[in-house]
Amino acid sequence: MKNILVTGGLGFIGSHTVVELQASGYRVIVVDDLSNSTVDVLENIEKISGIKPDFHQLDLRNKSDVQQLFATTSIDGIIHFAAFKAVGESVHKPLEYYENNIGSLVYILQEMVKHNIKNFIFSSSCTVYGQAETLPITELEKTKPALSPYGNTKQVGEEIIIDACNAHQLNAISLRYFNPIGAHDSIHIGELPLGVPQNLIPYITQTAIGLRDELSIFGNDYDTKDGTAVRDYIHVVDLAKAHIAALTRLVNKENTENYEYYNVGTGTGLSVLEIVESFERVTEQKLNYTIVERRKGDVTAAFADNTLVTSKLKWQPEKSLDDALRSAWEWQKKNT
Ligand code: NAD
Ligand code: WQD
Repeated sequence: MKNILVTGGLGFIGSHTVVELQASGYRVIVVDDLSNSTVDVLENIEKISGIKPDFHQLDLRNKSDVQQLFATTSIDGIIHFAAFKAVGESVHKPLEYYENNIGSLVYILQEMVKHNIKNFIFSSSCTVYGQAETLPITELEKTKPALSPYGNTKQVGEEIIIDACNAHQLNAISLRYFNPIGAHDSIHIGELPLGVPQNLIPYITQTAIGLRDELSIFGNDYDTKDGTAVRDYIHVVDLAKAHIAALTRLVNKENTENYEYYNVGTGTGLSVLEIVESFERVTEQKLNYTIVERRKGDVTAAFADNTLVTSKLKWQPEKSLDDALRSAWEWQKKNT
């Protein structure tokens, strides 16, 4: 049985990936400092899979703790989710973002080299493309200068991994996620935003349940089908499964390059108004919303061409938007 270290494994995408790893026969070791998650997630994972993963509460910015972890744990592969992820906050606290998202990454890569661990999966983001020249976005699309320190940590993170792969013969895959949404079918795990949600779906579910007065839709003057911005919303369980596909490719030595990167999205672009309409239909809730100015830094449209990931990783999305919105709503009701 292969031992997989999952950093940030109690977070939104990490927890769903832990469940899928367990279902695929991997033994999981979770590291999380609980800066954006709670320890209950461990029990909730166990409720789904029947297996409680090994857990180390540890801050990956602490180099000696990271060294100690690697010195005492047998690891065959790493999926690195741990990072700060609030785009707006990163503008005000850039150094904290660089310390965590870059510092922790470097420490982990150093330990991989020291302990001869070869397989690494990195959480990247479609944010690296900025406003793409061509839609849908293929991996041939050039990356753009990042619009926020957060976005820059993903670009620089990928570059650091490329250099480490070349110098130390590591094998790595970056997955460039589009917009992950939804919750596990069991409704035992989901997204737990702290404070006022920045992302669309938790803002919608919190409005529908009465925690927020109304959704502000950021702009209806974009050059899109209805004027609102377009994104590619992918069910978090599908996204979790893409990690298993990527890891399995590395473990089975099926990768053709030592560094590969894939867009992970559904391939469908949907506008904010389409999401609102679908949410109202699926949940039979009326949503209060108002149109306000554009949000600074938002792109007009981003959706994936997922041909590469479907062909090389033999992965494809299985769940619908309706599944995702329904599960997000059930999760909100359970947690309110
Ligand atoms: P999340 O905040 O829910 O999960 C991250 C987890 O990492 C949290 O549990 C947090 O406590 C932990 N963590 C953070 N810093 C740590 C540290 N120094 N030491 C140990 N643990 C630490 O975020 P998520 O939505 O699950 O995102 C996971 C990854 O995917 C992140 O790297 C994020 O940047 C990336 N990503 C997310 C999205 C998205 O929309 N959610 C999109 C693209 C990329
Ligand atoms: C989606 C759409 C908003 C909230 C962000 C990060 C990106 C990635 C995913 C990590 C946009 C609109 C939103 C609201 C709204 N994260 N919206 N009212 O901006 O595509 O991506 O999360 O890597 O890096 O930038 O996602 O969910 O914030 O917004 O109208 O209250 O919903 O303008 O068009 P986004 P989002």
